[in-house]
Amino acid sequence: MIYEPTPDNLESFAENLRRGGCVAFPTETVYGLGANALDGEAVARIFDAKGRPSFNPLIVHVTCLAEAQQYGVFSNTALTLAQAFWPGPLTLVVPRTSDCPVSELVSAGLPTIALRVPAHDIAHQLMRTAGCPLAAPSANKSGHLSPTRPEHVNQSLPDIPVLNGQQLTVGLESTIIGCLDDTPTLLRLGGLAREEIEAVVATPLNEIAETGDSTAKLAPGRLLRHYAPQARLRLNADTTEAGEALLAFGPPIPSHDGPMINLSPVQDVTEAAANLFSALHELDRKAEKIAVMPVPSHGLGAAINDRLERAARGHEGRS
Ligand code: TXA
Ligand code: MG
Repeated sequence: MIYEPTPDNLESFAENLRRGGCVAFPTETVYGLGANALDGEAVARIFDAKGRPSFNPLIVHVTCLAEAQQYGVFSNTALTLAQAFWPGPLTLVVPRTSDCPVSELVSAGLPTIALRVPAHDIAHQLMRTAGCPLAAPSANKSGHLSPTRPEHVNQSLPDIPVLNGQQLTVGLESTIIGCLDDTPTLLRLGGLAREEIEAVVATPLNEIAETGDSTAKLAPGRLLRHYAPQARLRLNADTTEAGEALLAFGPPIPSHDGPMINLSPVQDVTEAAANLFSALHELDRKAEKIAVMPVPSHGLGAAINDRLERAARGHEGRS
């Protein structure tokens, strides 16, 4: 359904977001599929709605630089870029603040966060009314084209309510710059030209990425490497060994004694997805081996298993 951005509709979209729902909203680049970035289960529902086969990190949309600084640490270069181009089609990937309240699922477990202030009045009205930052990928099923009209969202995600922002001015995804320190790195070319960025930063951009979403292979390791725990993961465990921590799903292994986190006592894969990265981080601090109970592959279970299998294999490679 497409809704006009009347005050009543904005209020009901905001209420939907506050209750953990997903809604589509316009930005100047493409329509976003938004959820409250502070609510892990709401963020998990984004992945569910898009049908993404794995968890990749999402962009967090905020109203202004000061709000962004609650969630990310801005180097001088990052500040210069934000001041020059926000609001606008630029996303900055920066370190998460030490007390960053944004769900770890948004960052897919990485210590960084992608932030952007969009240039679209309706996006700002929605963020202000909802009172929370919005995690949002493009509002299309995984593998479909990014939507630039509300009808595109409807065709790809028929169950998601869409706020009508008419035709968008940029129509191309934001340019993504990694700024872990003062060296800016081009991670994805998009609506803001490379030359415009280079005109305001003292250092030349570090790396060239192709246009589109296929930046993962080209982008530098430190920024796009997947999060993997240091601990050795043993999957599909039905017993635990001495020294192993337990990552449980459903009723935990009765004989287990030692550190344990339950991804979802009630066997809900959405709840499990919301807890996955924070649970891995915490058990990683407590043990060198983690036994992981089986997680069913329906819904978000597939993405959870994809991530657990990579983490387990990653360790084989290292040892
Ligand atoms: O214009 C846009 O950027 C749109 C609108 C809705 O804002 N959003 C968008 O999101 O294109 P999405 O999910 O399709 O692309 C987000 C990109 C992904 O390629 C992801 O890898 C990268 O941002 N990204 C997000 N967080 C990151 C992080 N912490 N480190 C590195 N890359 C990150
Ligand atoms: Mg996309």
